[in-house]
Amino acid sequence: MNTNLAEIGKLDKATVLHPFTQLRDFATGKAGDPTIVETAKGIRIKDATGREYIDGFAGLYCVNVGYGRTEVAEAISRQAYRLAYYHSYAAHTTDELAILSDRLVKMAPGKMSKVFYGMSGSDANETNAKLVWYYNNLRGKPQKKKIISRQRGYHGCSVVSGSMTGMSFYHDHMDLPVSGILHTGVPHYYWGGEPGESEQDFSLRRATELEELILREGPETVGAFIGEPVLGTGGITPPPQGYWAAIQAVLRKYDVLLIADEVITGFGRTGSLFGSEKYGIEPDLITVAKGLTSAYFPLSGSIVSEKVYKVLEDGADRVGAFSHGYTYSGHPIGAAAANAVLDIVEAENLPGNARDVGAHFQERLTSAFSALPIVGEVRGVGLMAAIEFVADPEKKTRFEPQLKVGARISKAARDRGLIARAMPHGDILGFAPPLVTTKSEIEEIVDIAEAAVAQVMDELTREGVSV
Ligand SMILES: Cc1ncc(COP(=O)(O)O)c(C=O)c1O
Repeated sequence: MNTNLAEIGKLDKATVLHPFTQLRDFATGKAGDPTIVETAKGIRIKDATGREYIDGFAGLYCVNVGYGRTEVAEAISRQAYRLAYYHSYAAHTTDELAILSDRLVKMAPGKMSKVFYGMSGSDANETNAKLVWYYNNLRGKPQKKKIISRQRGYHGCSVVSGSMTGMSFYHDHMDLPVSGILHTGVPHYYWGGEPGESEQDFSLRRATELEELILREGPETVGAFIGEPVLGTGGITPPPQGYWAAIQAVLRKYDVLLIADEVITGFGRTGSLFGSEKYGIEPDLITVAKGLTSAYFPLSGSIVSEKVYKVLEDGADRVGAFSHGYTYSGHPIGAAAANAVLDIVEAENLPGNARDVGAHFQERLTSAFSALPIVGEVRGVGLMAAIEFVADPEKKTRFEPQLKVGARISKAARDRGLIARAMPHGDILGFAPPLVTTKSEIEEIVDIAEAAVAQVMDELTREGVSV
């Protein structure tokens, strides 16, 4: 490392509080030096030492159009020169914002009406919670406020969105979840299905559990249900057969709104423009972020259905202005970035690429990994996939957590130039490459992943762990 890099590393260690980082290991250097990412192009990033990596996770499943897209950079630059900022309070707008909103309302599934903008998936879910509460206050149902999420769902890290997130390590020592946010069973057949139970029956059981929870709490107290069409951070898990139909039947029966959190699945990742389309979901509110700008600028949205919006507008004469907004709601540079990204999504048919290249990816992963003695499940849809490692696939037993099998495989892949994420829940290697990934790049990804898994299997054998 030259002096310059060492200096940057030192500055970083001294001053940056990094998300999701073991602070002591980072401070003492036990976790190694920070990776200083300098440039990127297509599906590859380069660090300051000149090392190149295939980004098999598109950043954090967000750089869908790939890195270095000059069209997007130019749109951002043009907007910054022309009008770097104006707010959208009190009926102010910009051309890019109005055009983007029209596009989103038309492209989103269901009968959508308006878009409220934020800067992150977390704040969009915070907005969605407030919309649910506001909607039911205006309908004269002030008790109907609880929001049901799923165990292993991920909806962000702020106070309410972090409470919606259904993994305890996001709550511990942070005083979450706050009251009024409940969690129901995770829709993962591999772990949750009973012996002899069909996938469809498992889905019906999950829907029955949801109904029981609503009845226990009192339907008059339950305002909304939030779910990702495909569980993301909780382990990249597509829904079991019949799940969304069964869940929606329960929600309709008890007048419970459905928030589809499309932060990962929106704009093509599953092979459809929205995950809701793929799984027949009819949302009342949709959360979008990440792929909306392919992360070239922070921008998120809560897409509001006609059904919900009508109540808000009808209530305005009684309650006055809609008193919610951020300085950067509808930022014109974000809107320009999103319009340029959506142009690429459409012109290059990225949902179609995710479907075709994704089908090839899923096949290659299944054939390379599913028969290995440490693999419990290979799963995914479109260009999102996961390999779940277990100590004994027959008995479905997990590895001892201290073996850190998932983290070691992820590191072995990284040492070979592939970023594939060790998912936080279990020994899971996750993939979500940019939607522009080609079949030949998929071959590179799978080859490196195979070598990484073989390396860790050898290590485990040498350590006396039976594999
Ligand atoms: C489904 C889902 N919702 C919400 C979020 C939170 O988004 P952000 O990190 O932009 O706050 C994420 C982030 O990964 C996500 O995957």
